[in-house]
Amino acid sequence: MKYFLDSAKLDEIKLAYEQYGFDGVTTNPKHIMASGKPFMTAIKDIAAYVADKPDFPVSVEINPHLDNADDMVKMATDISALSSNFVIKIPTNKEGIKAARRLEHAGIRTNMTLVFSPAQAIMPGKLHAKYVSPFVGWKEDYGDDGMNYVKDVVDIYRNYDFDTEIIVAAIRNAKQIQQAAIYGADIVTCSLAVYENSFYNPYTDLGLQIFQDAWDHTETGD
Ligand code: E4P
Repeated sequence: MKYFLDSAKLDEIKLAYEQYGFDGVTTNPKHIMASGKPFMTAIKDIAAYVADKPDFPVSVEINPHLDNADDMVKMATDISALSSNFVIKIPTNKEGIKAARRLEHAGIRTNMTLVFSPAQAIMPGKLHAKYVSPFVGWKEDYGDDGMNYVKDVVDIYRNYDFDTEIIVAAIRNAKQIQQAAIYGADIVTCSLAVYENSFYNPYTDLGLQIFQDAWDHTETGD
């Protein structure tokens, strides 16, 4: 399973790549806002950092106000030219699907985002998008099924051998990470805090204390 960092903060991206060996990055307008930098500054800074990391993809989302395929294709093409690492996030709606088909035919890789149902996930597979991003947290925030439909997406992609990779997105906790892995999704993306929470378990601390006591007894005889 690949781990993508869900952030546009350069310090977090560096830590994720250099300390944890994570596999890529996803950004969105919320993450760009959290970076505190203007959009172009934030993505150019990331582009500079990943310039010597050809196998470290970075998803960059187009302006969410764009409502037609022509404008989406134009902005996606401009962003893509900034870095060969960039994969362009396109909303999974009518205009976004038209735009993504044209971009993929032009060799510009896309991440079809804002997916919330198995039905929505089919066209990204048919148009050979590089990624499809079904969201979990946003649905669960409102009491809807978050994870179960992801299993359906994985099953559909297996049924038709789609080559699009599934990124389970908007992940809020370790249970969702492990469930995505159990379902067989290709990638999860979430914040550094959620990943680091998933590395922790109170029994590990308890076990360390037990081993420390044993170590000390061995060393000191006490
Ligand atoms: C990733 O590609 C998504 O944009 C992101 O996971 C959305 O969820 P968020 O609300 O946690 O940013």
